Amino acid sequence: MAETERSILGFLQNSDQISDSGQFSSDHNLDHDQVKNVIKSLQAFRYIDAQEVIRKTWVLTEEGNKYATQGSPEVQLFSAVPEEGSISMVELKKKLGKSIDFAWKYAKEYKWLELENKQVSRKVQHVEDKMKGLLLQIQQGKEVDKDGIDFLKGRKKLIEQVKWNGYCSIKKGPNYAPERRKVSTDLTRENLENWKELEFKEYNFNTKGAPLDSGLLHPLLKVRKQFKDIFVQMGFEEMPTNNFVESSFWNFDALFQPQQHPARDSHDTFFLKAPCTTRTLPEDYVEKVKRVHESGGYGSRGYSCDWKREEANKNLLRTHTTAVSSRMLYALAQKPFVPKKYFSIDRVFRNEAVDRTHLAEFHQMEGLICDRGLTLGDLIGVLKDFFARLGMPKLMFKPAYNPYTEPSMEIFSYHEKLGKWVEIGNSGMFRPEMLRPMGLPEDVQVIAWGLGLERPTMILYGIDNIRDLFGHKVDLGLIKRNPICRIGI
Ligand code: PHE
Repeated sequence: MAETERSILGFLQNSDQISDSGQFSSDHNLDHDQVKNVIKSLQAFRYIDAQEVIRKTWVLTEEGNKYATQGSPEVQLFSAVPEEGSISMVELKKKLGKSIDFAWKYAKEYKWLELENKQVSRKVQHVEDKMKGLLLQIQQGKEVDKDGIDFLKGRKKLIEQVKWNGYCSIKKGPNYAPERRKVSTDLTRENLENWKELEFKEYNFNTKGAPLDSGLLHPLLKVRKQFKDIFVQMGFEEMPTNNFVESSFWNFDALFQPQQHPARDSHDTFFLKAPCTTRTLPEDYVEKVKRVHESGGYGSRGYSCDWKREEANKNLLRTHTTAVSSRMLYALAQKPFVPKKYFSIDRVFRNEAVDRTHLAEFHQMEGLICDRGLTLGDLIGVLKDFFARLGMPKLMFKPAYNPYTEPSMEIFSYHEKLGKWVEIGNSGMFRPEMLRPMGLPEDVQVIAWGLGLERPTMILYGIDNIRDLFGHKVDLGLIKRNPICRIGI
């Protein structure tokens, strides 16, 4: 590199210009690619000015090279025929092999040879090998006129066009010097002290940073962090979610979900084989839950059915994070009441058929506020605030049903990028049948909402198959390639 640079700068010291980088390279026995790189760099520092040029040139193919040395097939054929007399076609085929066919075609067309009684003889004394001549010209890098090129192109695959790029009219630039000055690159203490004497390298804002050799976060983790930050900014505390295994009691019964509910079927829920039942439940609370299911109370008629302890004891993989909320609200009710804002983000499991948009395990986020005198208006207000912080200010609510909330609302948001309303979550006010048996004061209400983590992540990162995002088939490349962060949902 240094030598190439010296020859270019040195040459310009005594000459006006270098007219062609290719020519210069061959004259000085330098590698043209290296010359180009040096020119580019000298130009960036304005030591020189140069014009980039792209030329199309012809080069010989393997076939072309062969004929450039051996001569065209038709001339080879001509030479194989004796000056006087004749030779049999069979003999010629032996000598020339397969190429005899098209060689013969041309020799006949040019009226060089004739065939009589299977014997071949010359019709002319001398032939000119036009093909070889042209091929040699190209091989030596000489200009070949259009007729010549057309002639060669008329034959199969002798030449091909390649792009050549280099520089022309390379001249001294405004910063020209016969040798490159050393420029400082670092802002060290010494450099700063001597800045007047030094020349600093200019910043190149277009260079890409070197890829960091570090761990990278999965998109779900990045979006989870975004949600978590918003909950925390809004003053929510995180609930402990470190139990995938839960009893039916906390997952369903405490939430006033009837024991005959279809979600409690093994078609929808994964039940555990071992240990198949839970060991401990708070007995006096279980008694209250049983009572509210069977005969109601707190203004409710209940489900008028037999409530079975065995059903409540069954262990399962939690089907929603609301199981965590029920445990937390119960714990809260055991102490003198203080208002709380809780959230959770973690994994849940459902016995679902897996397809592009469904997995048997996924993540839910849940937020709840527990305070005196809360209303549906508070829920709507909090949801608007929460989703606006995620870049979703346009919301719509649709009446819905959950066994543990009344009223219940599905949440829709207008998605600007997709141009449609998409369902983003579910919400409601926890029923008295759930809260009162826990022991929460009568005027305490709980507003809550839940949403999936995968769906917003897929929308945000443009992933349309959930199996590309989560599960054993996920390509590690997805984690490496996706953007560091995305703004909005
Ligand atoms: N648990 C509900 C679900 O799985 C979400 C939800 C949470 C609904 C809290 C209302 C209140 O879809």
